[in-house]
Amino acid sequence: MSSESSAPAAAEPWTVRRILTWTTQHFTERGCDTPRLDAEILLAHVLNCPRIQLYVQYERPLTEEERTRLRGFVRRRAEHEPVAYLVGKREFFGLDFRVTSDVLIPRPDTETLVLALLDYLKDFPAAEAIELGVGSGAISVTAAVHQSGLSVNAVDISSQALGIAKENARRHQVESRIHFYEGDLFASLPEDLRVDAVVSNPPYVQTAELDQLDADVKDHEPRLALDGGADGLDLARRIIIDAPCFLKPNGLLLLELGPDNIQSAATFLKSQTGFQKIHILKDAAGRERVLSARCV
Ligand SMILES: C[S@@+](CC[C@H](N)C(=O)[O-])C[C@H]1O[C@@H](n2cnc3c(N)ncnc32)[C@H](O)[C@@H]1O
Repeated sequence: MSSESSAPAAAEPWTVRRILTWTTQHFTERGCDTPRLDAEILLAHVLNCPRIQLYVQYERPLTEEERTRLRGFVRRRAEHEPVAYLVGKREFFGLDFRVTSDVLIPRPDTETLVLALLDYLKDFPAAEAIELGVGSGAISVTAAVHQSGLSVNAVDISSQALGIAKENARRHQVESRIHFYEGDLFASLPEDLRVDAVVSNPPYVQTAELDQLDADVKDHEPRLALDGGADGLDLARRIIIDAPCFLKPNGLLLLELGPDNIQSAATFLKSQTGFQKIHILKDAAGRERVLSARCV
């Protein structure tokens, strides 16, 4: 598709079917993990239709303008730019979130934390939470959509990330129940704030491991959202130390961490006074993912 000289036959039109085949092959050669899916998402984005519609118009030729637009996306995807950034959105918990390269792309792993939060809040007609490192808003917005009595104090150190989170709160009509703060963890929050839950998916990758991540992640997602320091737990430890000052008695702390460092975080949490009922929750793939504790 990118070079007419490599086209199999000049007269053969670039139909949806032919473009999907060519693009899938190209992405495979460039080492993309999900070449066919990526090709379909990008083509559906260019044609402004749901993915399933591609199969309804399988033999439809693309216009020159559509091919030009697709070519740009294909070039960027072949350089491992994540599909979510190219199309500007990612689904999380059944909701569409706008994403740009200023925010981490929401991961299915994070649904474990959201489910635990919603389970805890189900008995509260009204509740208040803090989220540290709100990013795209995936956690706060989803929780607010599913728990109509919830208000959230959502913090991020990145003003660009806060801009995206606000947009997603508006998109899902929960902006009146999410209060945004720009700052370092708890520093920008009112000192007398006491909430039912403190949650965070902090940066938790070990600095030395950043360069070993997939190109999609290490070359495109914000380092600020990934780098958790030498053992990945720099922010987690600070959150564990300060959370009891902001939690009501029996309030919930939930931290998403990596399967490789969550046990160390649990050991650190147990060494602190102020917590009880400490558990590690597994994600859908069976990996230890969320550290849960209650304030005494
Ligand atoms: C792993 S991302 C999580 C984003 C989102 N909550 C999610 O689960 O998809 C971590 C977020 O923490 C933010 N962050 C990093 N250091 C921070 C700090 N010291 N204080 C507040 N936010 C911070 C980053 O900007 C990033 O948005």
